[in-house]
Amino acid sequence: MKKLIYILLFLLILTSCKQLSTNPFYDIIKEYPHNSSLLNEYEKIYNETNNIVYAINKVNYPNFLTPNSSNYLSFKINNIQLVNTNYKLSKNYIPKTLVEITNVDYIKRTNVIMMIDQNTLNAYTLLFNESLLNNLNLIVFSSYRSYEYQESIYNKEENNFIAAPGASEHQTGLAIDISTKDTGLTEYFDNTPECIWLTNNAHKYGFIKRYPKDKEHITGYPHESWHYRYVGVEVAEIIYNNNLTLEEYFYQYIIL
Ligand code: DAL
Ligand code: ZN
Repeated sequence: MKKLIYILLFLLILTSCKQLSTNPFYDIIKEYPHNSSLLNEYEKIYNETNNIVYAINKVNYPNFLTPNSSNYLSFKINNIQLVNTNYKLSKNYIPKTLVEITNVDYIKRTNVIMMIDQNTLNAYTLLFNESLLNNLNLIVFSSYRSYEYQESIYNKEENNFIAAPGASEHQTGLAIDISTKDTGLTEYFDNTPECIWLTNNAHKYGFIKRYPKDKEHITGYPHESWHYRYVGVEVAEIIYNNNLTLEEYFYQYIIL
């Protein structure tokens, strides 16, 4: 009898070991940084989504996709900076890559020099030149904004389109508000040929529409058809082809 119990016990251990080694989840997760005490939680989400990166991020940072839920410092991974309502830039953050905007149409204001990140300007110049060939009249309304300037407009304007100081991508110099002269930064831009062309082509130049329709619950902002963010062509293509926000891209493609 005792012998039989030992044999059964041995068979049980053997089967569970076999299960562990044949479940692809255990082979896959080995390749990624993770907390081994949370394996069951990762596995549950992995089985639902088949996305190991998402599973790890979801367990480690459950509130990442909920706007205004945390207060962390903005970070950069794979050269992509994340700035949003949860990940903010410090007051003294000024990008070192700022240059004066030239060679594209932009709104000229008295005593104001419009600044932008150099790579963003290079990419936008290509986009702008192509838009001219399509008889479109795009004009830049704003790009870099300092922490102090963002603070002043945040305190002045009572609307939910303006990010709090530190939470604006404009402070990175990588964001650009583009519209037509007549429609400005309003919903009237949405149905113009310029807006439609930008929606369908900006990713080819490395830009993403940062606050898309129906993603307010993730970005924290209403749809802004004019606000584009430079992320480079490779990432912009992924975001465009999969209809993602930048937050979703991080969550699904990069271990945080
Ligand atoms: N309008 C965007 C959210 C900003 O102020 O940065
Ligand atoms: Zn903007």
